Amino acid sequence: MHRVTLTQYLIEQQRNHGRVSPELRLLIEIIARACKAISHAVSKGPLTGIGDVVGTQNVQGEAQKKLDVIANEVLVEANEWGGQLAAMVSEEMDAPYQIPNRYPKGEFLLLMDPLDGSSNLDVNISVGTIFSVLRCPDGVTEPDEKAFMQPGNKQVAAGFAVYGAATILVLTVGNGVVGFTLDRELGSFILTQERILIPAETQEFAINASNARNWEPPVRRYIDECLAGRTGPRGKDFNMRWVASMVADVYRILSRGGIFMYPRDAKHKDGRLRLMYEANPMSFIVEQAGGAATNGRERILDIQPQKLHQRVGVVLGSRNEVERVARYHAEN
Ligand code: F6P
Repeated sequence: MHRVTLTQYLIEQQRNHGRVSPELRLLIEIIARACKAISHAVSKGPLTGIGDVVGTQNVQGEAQKKLDVIANEVLVEANEWGGQLAAMVSEEMDAPYQIPNRYPKGEFLLLMDPLDGSSNLDVNISVGTIFSVLRCPDGVTEPDEKAFMQPGNKQVAAGFAVYGAATILVLTVGNGVVGFTLDRELGSFILTQERILIPAETQEFAINASNARNWEPPVRRYIDECLAGRTGPRGKDFNMRWVASMVADVYRILSRGGIFMYPRDAKHKDGRLRLMYEANPMSFIVEQAGGAATNGRERILDIQPQKLHQRVGVVLGSRNEVERVARYHAEN
């Protein structure tokens, strides 16, 4: 059986579709290699104590685990020398990371959440790495925060790895969404999902219901209608899933449809998830898979960012359901 590797896929995108330049291909391959190293570290579980808290907090005020710090280092070290990047931004670093002068600089900016869902590490639930690639504005050699303030519709590539029972890499270069599975014996990512498409209809929703008392009326209305099931206004029963690891929740939606919601509420006034390296890459992927993504009021990919680490309400997944939630917001 002919198996297509990540490298082959990227070269085909370069040759046949002109979507991927050699520099972008190399950048994605380096990120994928870093994800393999992180996957290996995660798979050791409690053997190394890397799920332990290190006693520091990231810029979001969240407790950093050893593995958060390690994953960040792996990605920075892998990506700083190759010559594709002008700077990087990470959930684990306050300010943009400048490429050291000893290395050449490139045309891209990398934004990443090195270890999403890391509060799940100690319970052996899937975590992952999310990344987004933007172009560095022309003439900028030392990209500061301003260089990164581009809406998600400017992304040239986005992807995420889920370190679950299998390690899966999901990728878009703006030409649909594909999925690769890590073959550990070969050390290669093998194409296993050639065209990921999210069904427009769904009967599954994902939301942290412990925030229910803080929800805004349109969110409450949507969830109440789902919960009312067959005898309610939707006329069908819904199922609920919440992994509390965005990579795993979004991967499920890419695989079998559904809606994922972390809306803004009375407690999370600006939302909970980060725009630049969580919501934007996931929204790009979901839209490329035929789904939709909104903060309730606006398409996420059109939001003009104001701050590197800004938060945003997120509603994404099956198109008809996301549009319904947006409609409830408009009607409100
Ligand atoms: O980045 C944060 C994250 O871990 C996401 O992966 C996940 O969806 C969310 O937080 C879970 O938040 P909560 O613990 O509030 O349900």
